[in-house]
Amino acid sequence: MADVVIIGAGGHGREVLHALREEGRADFAGFLDDREPDPDLLGRINARWLGPVSSLTGLPRDVQYLIGIGSGQLRRRIDNWATGEQRRPYTLVHPMTSIGADVELAPGVVVFAFATVTTNIRIGRHTHVGRGCAVGHDSTLGDYVSMYPLAAVSGNVTLEDGVTVGTTASVRQGLRIGAETMIGAGAAVVRDFPAGVVVTGVPASARP
Ligand SMILES: CC(C)(COP(=O)(O)OP(=O)(O)OC[C@H]1O[C@@H](n2cnc3c(N)ncnc32)[C@H](O)[C@@H]1OP(=O)(O)O)[C@@H](O)C(=O)NCCC(=O)NCCS
Repeated sequence: MADVVIIGAGGHGREVLHALREEGRADFAGFLDDREPDPDLLGRINARWLGPVSSLTGLPRDVQYLIGIGSGQLRRRIDNWATGEQRRPYTLVHPMTSIGADVELAPGVVVFAFATVTTNIRIGRHTHVGRGCAVGHDSTLGDYVSMYPLAAVSGNVTLEDGVTVGTTASVRQGLRIGAETMIGAGAAVVRDFPAGVVVTGVPASARP
């Protein structure tokens, strides 16, 4: 069994631990976080803090890492550093998900409970697909994409690197969303958007 650490002991990181335990294929070694988490909080979930993120370099070479941080931009930064230190990420799929044929999950991906990833789909490095999300056929999610709970992406959609899809937002089929764009909670996206914008509303429009 792999030994796994989770970088980030905040709410998202503790949800990653929940998924890791339900998956049951790895031993959880502890959290790494630059700020010491509340020991009572961790004690109540039977977890421990191993030290700051830099402590990863002192752990045995075969220890793998998950990044338990909701921000794709921070995941990218930590992953670049950890990769430079020759560390290997763990890829986690909660057992209560539906993952179809020809679905490619890059290293570090986390697919949380009740997500559906149907068929012929590519999901990039350290992308997180939140609880109850839907990813439709022939879609491509880049690296460090974040889909927050209950977000839905229809078929043939491309989310470029670092896109965030807020909770319960939806993206109509065949669209392309540019890198680092933030889709607000509850938005209904019915046209393409360029990189680096914030879009909200139904139908969604870019904020000035
Ligand atoms: C869109 C978003 C990024 C904007 O964040 P922000 O820049 O901090 O925005 P603010 O909260 O300052 O709100 C600014 C205005 O936008 C409106 N607004 C914020 N989010 C909105 C949304 N999702 N849809 C529609 N309007 C929204 C606010 O009501 C406010 O309007 P006002 O100026 O008329 O009062 C953020 O609200 C959002 O939806 N993030 C996704 C959150 C999410 O999914 N979390 C799940 C975590 S698991």
